[in-house]
Amino acid sequence: MTPVGLMLGALFAASGVLFVLTGRAPLRYGRHAAPDASGVPIRLAWILIALPGLVLCPWTVYGAGGGGVVPLIMLVLWMLAYGWRGVLYPALIRGTHGKRMPWAAVVLGAVFTAALAYLNGLVIAETWRAYPLRWLWSIRFLYGVMLFVAGMFISRAADLSLINLRRRGDLGYVLPRGIFFEEVSCPNYLGEMLMWTGWAILTWSKPGLASATLAVALLLPRAVSHHLWYRRTFPNLPPNRRAIIPFVM
Ligand SMILES: NC(=O)c1ccc[n+]([C@@H]2O[C@H](COP(=O)([O-])OP(=O)(O)OC[C@H]3O[C@@H](n4cnc5c(N)ncnc54)[C@H](OP(=O)(O)O)[C@@H]3O)[C@@H](O)[C@H]2O)c1
Repeated sequence: MTPVGLMLGALFAASGVLFVLTGRAPLRYGRHAAPDASGVPIRLAWILIALPGLVLCPWTVYGAGGGGVVPLIMLVLWMLAYGWRGVLYPALIRGTHGKRMPWAAVVLGAVFTAALAYLNGLVIAETWRAYPLRWLWSIRFLYGVMLFVAGMFISRAADLSLINLRRRGDLGYVLPRGIFFEEVSCPNYLGEMLMWTGWAILTWSKPGLASATLAVALLLPRAVSHHLWYRRTFPNLPPNRRAIIPFVM
């Protein structure tokens, strides 16, 4: 097997393991953190996790001599996703005082991002498959971009709603209400899963699929943990609200 094939295999296998493990016990940050949690301050944690996505992907594309209109659009979408997570999101979140993410989660997160950035960089550089101009009008690209943009809109809007639940300095939790939150407890996770599913479709590649698989493996079980936590913490949680998929789960 080639090194690239090994990396992909490891990513799919790790997604399966993470799905099972985090389904049993959520990663210990945010509301699921231990009271005396040690580790990396939460803003820095998100920067470190996203940084390889911002640097390694364009570097790989550049190194492999990528170019062309379709790859450029793909690179812009990728940078928008990681620019939010690694720059704007850490700058905007509130109530971070004393909150930390375990070192292991940060290192693992950064390693996964680096692997995905490298592999998807190869995809964007067209070493996986060629993306001629007519790819822009293919069903895969159009449908994938639609899903990516819709997912990004839902995820960012939900992230901002959650951020605005707190005034500066507040550390506590409030029951979220309003658009998207009436149907599910974690629309930010739902949007993120849609985004990366869209990415898998628009690139029609195994690295794209690895990005979507990892997002689902991390976010689906965490959404269930969040939902159960909301149910325990807020007895007035609307009974029809689901964890992450409206009307289903
Ligand atoms: N693509 C991937 O594989 C992947 C993996 C993990 C995360 N992410 C994305 O990264 C983002 C952050 O993840 P996360 O797990 O930290 O999300 P989260 O638990 O929903 O928290 C998001 C932010 O809102 C705050 N918050 C959440 N619920 C709140 C409430 N009811 N009242 C007041 N404040 C509240 C959190 O504060 P606290 O930190 O104090 O809880 C945190 O600052 C999400 O958009 C997620 O989709 C993506």
